[in-house]
Amino acid sequence: MSLQKLCAMNDSPVTIASNGVPQYSLEQVWKRCEGPTETVTILQGVDLTVSAGEQIAITGASGSGKSTLLHLMGALDTPSSGKVLFEGQDLAAMSANEKAHWRNRRIGFVFQFHHLLPEFTTQENVAMQALIGGMSRAEAMARAEVALGKVGLHNRVSHRVTTLSGGERQRAAIARAILLEPAVLLADEPTGNLDQKTGEAIAELLHHLNQTLAMTLVVVTHNLDMALAMRRCLELRTGVLYEKNR
Ligand SMILES: Nc1ncnc2c1ncn2[C@@H]1O[C@H](COP(=O)(O)OP(=O)(O)OP(=O)(O)O)[C@@H](O)[C@H]1O
Ligand SMILES: [Mg+2]
Repeated sequence: MSLQKLCAMNDSPVTIASNGVPQYSLEQVWKRCEGPTETVTILQGVDLTVSAGEQIAITGASGSGKSTLLHLMGALDTPSSGKVLFEGQDLAAMSANEKAHWRNRRIGFVFQFHHLLPEFTTQENVAMQALIGGMSRAEAMARAEVALGKVGLHNRVSHRVTTLSGGERQRAAIARAILLEPAVLLADEPTGNLDQKTGEAIAELLHHLNQTLAMTLVVVTHNLDMALAMRRCLELRTGVLYEKNR
């Protein structure tokens, strides 16, 4: 059975309310980009409220705006109009330094295309965020080893990332994102290159982090099992966000 079929009942644009200040509040977020001949509208008035500790899957066809939305939530990009508030604070109002600090402390980001640094080992790549944040090398490297163990890469810590397989790089990227136990994990297709068994193990790890650390999960995925394992399921359709009621 397809995700669409499972989730197709009672589709409605997202307007979930939350008690108190929500962790995330996206208000009428539009994203437009200048193409060579025309302006491309990627997101069309996205409203979204996320409470701390939620598990959210975002699905949608290729080009529907999933990565764009995740980048906006990670302050890696800014909306053309509308607001992205984190704990009530407008991300666009932060300076570049404040954004970098906030991202380092609060957000783990798994990029769709990894962005691991080829000149470093797996362990160094994973430790990088902590080193940038001012942690001692010894502690950052020790933490990186633990995080790599969690994603099943304990035997690859000293390898250069260029020698890792696609799935191993993906797991290294997940280890890097969870290193500092962020409040929110924004993950763009974290199981995209993984076989079923490894994908399930990663999904279990994310659940464990959600349960034990109350880490909010916002996971873009084409993987049906992964999407169904999340408590809340959203879908982007040409830049419009829908809540999928199950
Ligand atoms: N800087 C840009 N300028 C013009 N168009 C862009 C730009 N960035 C993204 N787009 C377009 O916006 C649309 C949404 O891109 P996005 O990467 O968010 O899609 P996606 O849902 O993540 O797709 P996929 O599942 O293939 O990763 C795409 O059609 C893309 O070509
Ligand atoms: Mg994408």
